[in-house]
Amino acid sequence: MKNNASSSEGTGTISFKKNFGKEKVEISKQHILKFMGRENLNGLTVLDIGCGSGLHSVAMLEAGAAKIHGFDYDPNSVKATQFIQKQVGHPENWTAEQGSVLDDDYISKLSTYDFVYSWGVLHHTGEVWHAIQNAASRVKPGGLFYIALYAADVQIDPTPEFWLDIKRKYVASGWMRRRAMDLWYVWRFQMRKDIRRLPEFLQRKREYEKNRGMSIFTDIRDWLGGWPMEFVYDKEAIDFVEKLGFKLEKIATGEANTEFLFVRNADDRI
Ligand SMILES: C[S@@+](CC[C@H](N)C(=O)[O-])C[C@H]1O[C@@H](n2cnc3c(N)ncnc32)[C@H](O)[C@@H]1O
Repeated sequence: MKNNASSSEGTGTISFKKNFGKEKVEISKQHILKFMGRENLNGLTVLDIGCGSGLHSVAMLEAGAAKIHGFDYDPNSVKATQFIQKQVGHPENWTAEQGSVLDDDYISKLSTYDFVYSWGVLHHTGEVWHAIQNAASRVKPGGLFYIALYAADVQIDPTPEFWLDIKRKYVASGWMRRRAMDLWYVWRFQMRKDIRRLPEFLQRKREYEKNRGMSIFTDIRDWLGGWPMEFVYDKEAIDFVEKLGFKLEKIATGEANTEFLFVRNADDRI
């Protein structure tokens, strides 16, 4: 594996530049492996759909994936992934590019993979069922399909309609107004309009960074700016994917995103 990082401190399969968030990668890796009930991803080829910052791709490489291809619709996300690729020394077995899961032509030209991963993406495309179908089409027979979708089953207060309206406003706003809306969100939903809850929020912010490997503000921006967006009932998703020739292996519900792990029907599973 190629590694250009001169100031690296490698302990896993790839080498990290000094300031790279190795801890975040480790948290993500543990989350993925725990949910999948595996000790590693050794030898698997992986497709990371809607790779975002690329953090999860690094985590999967660290877990032993043989090869990863990531793509994202948003050019800025692709740039962020390319920045991380540089931080970890441009592993030759990791490619990333711009592409849309709704682009039938692009999808049909991709190879099929042992493991297709798409976390928090398919419900943001505006055509969730089309996106699920295209994503599923890239799983090899016997391969694994791990997706996370916004759950319609989880009661949220305020209602989905309230949030859809806020999100519409957020994406139509400029940088300043968005930052003001981030703070409004903290004030209303994290501090519940009480300044005495500021220390509690700051403590949560620290814990969040430790446990989730990302800034709470990244998640707030993803939530407010996540548009378009659809809510999906768990059962609807299971029925749909099973009709495509998969079997549900595992599900984690109760959070905003439901996580699903499917296996594509075949005599031999990966
Ligand atoms: C909430 S972020 C999740 C990013 C990453 N999977 C993660 O878990 O950190 C949703 C991502 O989906 C991407 N996305 C939205 N529509 C897409 C599409 N049609 N094709 C590919 N990616 C898309 C967005 O650009 C964004 O990076």
